[in-house]
Amino acid sequence: MEYDLMISNARIVGPDATQEGCILVKDGKIAAVSKEQGDFRAKEVIDAAGKYVLPGGVDVHVHFRDPGLTYKEDFSTGSMAAAAGGITTIFDMPNVQPPTLNVENFEIKKKIAEEKSYVNYGIYAYLVNNLDQITPLIEAGVCGFKWDLSTFDWELPEGWYLPDNNEAADIFREIAKHGYVVTVHAEDMELVKNYTEHLKETGRDQKDFLAHVEARPDIVELSALHRTFVLSEVSGCKVHITHLTSRRGLELIKEYQRRGIPVTSDVGPSWFTFCAEDYEKYGGGIRVIPAIRYQNDTDALWEGLACGDIEVMATDHAPHSNEEKFERSWWDTLPGTIGVQTSLPILLDRANKGEITLNRIVDCYASQPARIFGLYPRKGLIAPGADADITIVDMEKEWTVTHEEMYSKTKYTPYNGFQLKGKPVTTIVMGQVVMQDGKIVGQPGAGKLVNPKQDW
Ligand code: DOR
Ligand code: ZN
Repeated sequence: MEYDLMISNARIVGPDATQEGCILVKDGKIAAVSKEQGDFRAKEVIDAAGKYVLPGGVDVHVHFRDPGLTYKEDFSTGSMAAAAGGITTIFDMPNVQPPTLNVENFEIKKKIAEEKSYVNYGIYAYLVNNLDQITPLIEAGVCGFKWDLSTFDWELPEGWYLPDNNEAADIFREIAKHGYVVTVHAEDMELVKNYTEHLKETGRDQKDFLAHVEARPDIVELSALHRTFVLSEVSGCKVHITHLTSRRGLELIKEYQRRGIPVTSDVGPSWFTFCAEDYEKYGGGIRVIPAIRYQNDTDALWEGLACGDIEVMATDHAPHSNEEKFERSWWDTLPGTIGVQTSLPILLDRANKGEITLNRIVDCYASQPARIFGLYPRKGLIAPGADADITIVDMEKEWTVTHEEMYSKTKYTPYNGFQLKGKPVTTIVMGQVVMQDGKIVGQPGAGKLVNPKQDW
């Protein structure tokens, strides 16, 4: 048989072990993994020359801003950034225009992604007062639901709102029937509103960077976590806490896991790299929500990710224009920063420093997200039968992150000037090479929709 692609001399990294061998791809899938460099025939051969070969990254939290906010990013630029960063599957968030809260709006986004995406994509729907839309949205192909507690009702179209606990419990039950996951942005906005008003009254304003974290102390996260756990318990629904930010939040999650609540979490580089002392230097560049906190929290998040207490790394890639980030008063500066192109490299650099193993990187950025969101082992593993989503990394490559190198429309990255060792050099999506040596070489449309109910 002639294969489409062969990757020879590979050090194949899995979540538990690394083995040397050769990967054979046919029709977009991994047909075989051979320990021997056998006499195989393939149309295209990539000699990995002893480099590490990882399952492509699965990033379950990005904002590609398409449709409606495409001055910040679109599915083409966002997915090029993902491919350049070794990410082969992303889950896109629903806060676009029109917001993804019903089947009609889901279909609009799906069509855009089909045409423009270089990587595979899951599409989240909002969890709002949309009980009657839950099953139709699952049938239409969403990857999960976003319970974004940071949303104010005025940010949603007229008639849509965040439900109270009783209404939410019914929606959680409906989602649980299908075994789907609710991904939670855990902030209690009543508390945030109160803290913010108080700080503003006392004159904390322009460029008073610490006011941001003081308006959103960790108790805000704890309150939202408690609420989420109650809803999970009454409904049996799986919950995933995205961009966890505090030591106390992690402790609470561990406690509830011991009690049997089906909860998992993720953290992104913004929160495990920076801390409150960095606001002075980066200003709006690291203004994200929930807020980046104090060193004690940052350390707990990194330790939690490295050891697996925080199961997943997800970036929360959230582009905004320079005006929105740097030319407004501190309170009005929009939260979010890009990250999908740099998050795997940041982990590789930490592996080179001995702070995390390559196996754990694969686990937290490919296998675990795939498992939690029902895509494993089709995604998140290099094994026969899996989709051929593969990232080859050069662990010896030393390089400096620059704004210019970013594929995102918003070039500003807080990692500009970071000197890293380790970089993805080839990204393969469904058997097609989409990135080679930092350049996008694939075609838009290479990526496919993903969700847990697909046959494969
Ligand atoms: O900082 C953030 N920005 N956090 C979020 O949860 C949303 C995001 C955005 O959409 O800009
Ligand atoms: Zn987000």
